[in-house]
Amino acid sequence: MNANSLKHNIVDFYGRDFVVTKDVLIPRPETEMMIDTVLDLAGRSYLPGVKPKEAVLAEKCKILDVGTGSGCIAVTLKLELPEAQITASDVSELALKVAQENATRLGAKVKFIKSDLLGNISGDFDVVVANLPYVDKDWDWIDKKALSKEPSIALYADNHGLALIYRLIDQATERKVSRLVLEADPCQHQKIISYAKDRNYQLNGIHGFAICLSILRA
Ligand SMILES: C[S@@+](CC[C@H](N)C(=O)[O-])C[C@H]1O[C@@H](n2cnc3c(N)ncnc32)[C@H](O)[C@@H]1O
Repeated sequence: MNANSLKHNIVDFYGRDFVVTKDVLIPRPETEMMIDTVLDLAGRSYLPGVKPKEAVLAEKCKILDVGTGSGCIAVTLKLELPEAQITASDVSELALKVAQENATRLGAKVKFIKSDLLGNISGDFDVVVANLPYVDKDWDWIDKKALSKEPSIALYADNHGLALIYRLIDQATERKVSRLVLEADPCQHQKIISYAKDRNYQLNGIHGFAICLSILRA
């Protein structure tokens, strides 16, 4: 089935319109901080009038977006950093169809791969970005009724919401990925930073919900 034929809505993300269906998470404003963080690494100012930092990413850098959902992160990064090579993955084939549809509609060349985290992904990447499911089913402050329209696979994770993020950090450690930009609820940040530190990653910065980590060279 083509994503065009699915019941869909249009949602703004980073100033562009994205198609969303029942098969993907609705892009959230807090996820825009993931884009800011990568632009910062690329030496691009995301705030008007603020001097950009020195770039640590080359223009032709390789970026992987794990758990791409609607494709909002991957497509936005390709449009903001046109020289970058962007790959995006998801475990959900239905989500990948929506992401591909958004890439085509917005004219962004992104390579899509079906994969459980880094399982089917080969090659090296300068940055791996991931907004994986991190909601803990036991959080009593979550409006579960409001979230019921979105797929559970896009929202919830075991181990207090941290299971998939920890698994990705383990895989990134094995593959010596230089940089990770991860979204999580701020109440989870210290646990993630500490888990990553034990696996040779240091904290570069936190921007709202986004954590930026880089590998420590031996
Ligand atoms: C929180 S949503 C984020 C979607 C999109 N990146 C965004 O920021 O709006 C998480 C996405 O991760 C995907 N996902 C869940 N488990 C996964 C896994 N083991 N490997 C890859 N993707 C997974 C879900 O299908 C979902 O699309």
